[in-house]
Amino acid sequence: MIKLLCFLLFNAYVVNNAVGSVIEVGGFKSYVSGSPHAEHAVILVSDILGYKVPNLRAIADKVASAGYYVVVPDFFNEDIYNPNNTRRPLNKWMESHPTEQGVKDAKAVIRALRKRGFSSIGVAGFCWGGKVAAILSSTANIQAVVLCHPTFVTLTDIKDVEVPIAILGAELDTVCPKELVKQYKKVLLTKPQIKNYVKIFRGVDHGWTTVYDLNDKKAVKAAEKSHMEILDWFNKSLK
Ligand SMILES: *[C@@H]1O[C@H](CO)[C@@H](O)[C@H](O)[C@H]1NC(C)=O
Ligand SMILES: *[C@@H]1O[C@H](CO)[C@@H](O)[C@H](O)[C@H]1NC(C)=O
Repeated sequence: MIKLLCFLLFNAYVVNNAVGSVIEVGGFKSYVSGSPHAEHAVILVSDILGYKVPNLRAIADKVASAGYYVVVPDFFNEDIYNPNNTRRPLNKWMESHPTEQGVKDAKAVIRALRKRGFSSIGVAGFCWGGKVAAILSSTANIQAVVLCHPTFVTLTDIKDVEVPIAILGAELDTVCPKELVKQYKKVLLTKPQIKNYVKIFRGVDHGWTTVYDLNDKKAVKAAEKSHMEILDWFNKSLK
């Protein structure tokens, strides 16, 4: 995973064709894309690399082009995880940025969007953001969630889910192993009243929806497929 993170930090930042802009939403600097007059809004909760990652912003633009107002908040105040900083390993960084804080912060963004009159709100979370999205699904006024290779999500979190949920896992993921994703599915099967979609993508690793080499055709294809699934879930659950 660290290797992948480094790769992203040092190589993937060079491409940036983003069409949105950075404004404040609910007290957080956010990348926004799409019409503010759209009927539905989508919040993307980033992984530990934060809201500037071009591949994440590209997902925002994609979802926006399907008719949503998309918000990618900066919940880290630009203090993203730096794999180079050996004095601040991931667990130390997490002490400054617990997912509980992410949930609290996301609720402020949700309230702000509610005030603006969006008729429904969806949340997609990536890794760290996957945990935030999972908790929001039972504690906030939102209508759908997508968890992409989530981290720290417990079976209890899944048991508590109250809105349509899609979970995208990766076959080679060791952070969120496919066995765990299968257990999520089992829990969801006990909740027939909650629409769910659980898929394990073949041949890909943790983070594949956002951390990929733009020159690797296979990786790009897998990532694009996952983006379509995210969009499909919001189309089915929010509209
Ligand atoms: C991390 O280390 C690499 C290799 O030493 C260096 O090229 C890069 O600029 C550093 N990146 C950050 C974010 O500090
Ligand atoms: C989602 O809906 C938009 C607008 O109706 C449509 O253009 C897009 O193809 C749909 N995407 C998927 C993956 O269902």
